[in-house]
Amino acid sequence: MTLRGKTAVVTGGSRGIGRAIVRRLARDGARVVFSYRENAAAADELVGELEQVTGVRADQADPDSLDALFAAVPDGLDILVNNAAINPPLPVAELTGEDFDRVMTVNAKFPALAIRRAAEVMRDHGRIVNISTLNTVVPASGHVLYCASKAALEQFTAVAARELGGRGITVNTVSPGATDTDLLRATNPPEALAQTPEITALGRLGRPEDIADVVALLAGPDAGWITGQNIRATGGLLV
Ligand SMILES: NC(=O)c1ccc[n+]([C@@H]2O[C@H](COP(=O)([O-])OP(=O)(O)OC[C@H]3O[C@@H](n4cnc5c(N)ncnc54)[C@H](OP(=O)(O)O)[C@@H]3O)[C@@H](O)[C@H]2O)c1
Repeated sequence: MTLRGKTAVVTGGSRGIGRAIVRRLARDGARVVFSYRENAAAADELVGELEQVTGVRADQADPDSLDALFAAVPDGLDILVNNAAINPPLPVAELTGEDFDRVMTVNAKFPALAIRRAAEVMRDHGRIVNISTLNTVVPASGHVLYCASKAALEQFTAVAARELGGRGITVNTVSPGATDTDLLRATNPPEALAQTPEITALGRLGRPEDIADVVALLAGPDAGWITGQNIRATGGLLV
């Protein structure tokens, strides 16, 4: 129960990696508020499964929804995990300004403003973890805005680490490799997923819990000296 007495906000907690993070932080003793976009049934199921966990509908396409999310932590905050993101197929040749605004808002603007809001209410020695992707070093054809928005998030992480370090707040990135979720299956053909274990040192796809373990480490008491880092949790997909 390393996080007993701590309060965490996790974005995109209703499914996939975010849900595993919610479960892990709650298991470690934290009170957790998570956001979701539309899947109220999945959110309700998770709330029913765990104690001290609350779901808040907050669509990252609308940064005003930050108000609802932070209203749920009136007594201050210890941990923020910026996890939610979208990855629509978008080749450079088909890019529109509307696409740019939409993906950048969900994946970069909202998380950046969440860091700002979190910093206002976060207690000293708090933790911020931003979920990026291996695709900022291994660019994915047809996913230009996903890669670009996550690269922006990595820079917000690095600068925030410097600016908030004086309060003992750490800010880190966790970059998953191929992790078995709805998003992975929606963005990769089955043949590609079947081959991924062969090019992964640990010989399998990642599980959401693999990423949650790394987030828990960074959120926990033993990681106070790690900040401004990008932990590539890929099972050795990139070595
Ligand atoms: N899976 C991978 O292989 C992989 C690899 C590298 C990085 N990542 C990163 O890991 C993170 C989680 O990915 P995942 O694979 O778990 O995704 P996922 O299975 O698609 O789950 C996405 C979660 O985010 C929420 N969400 C999506 N758009 C939202 C919005 N506009 N506002 C609020 N919540 C929103 C969803 O809520 P609803 O349930 O309401 O839709 C859901 O809870 C992302 O940052 C992704 O880039 C994943």
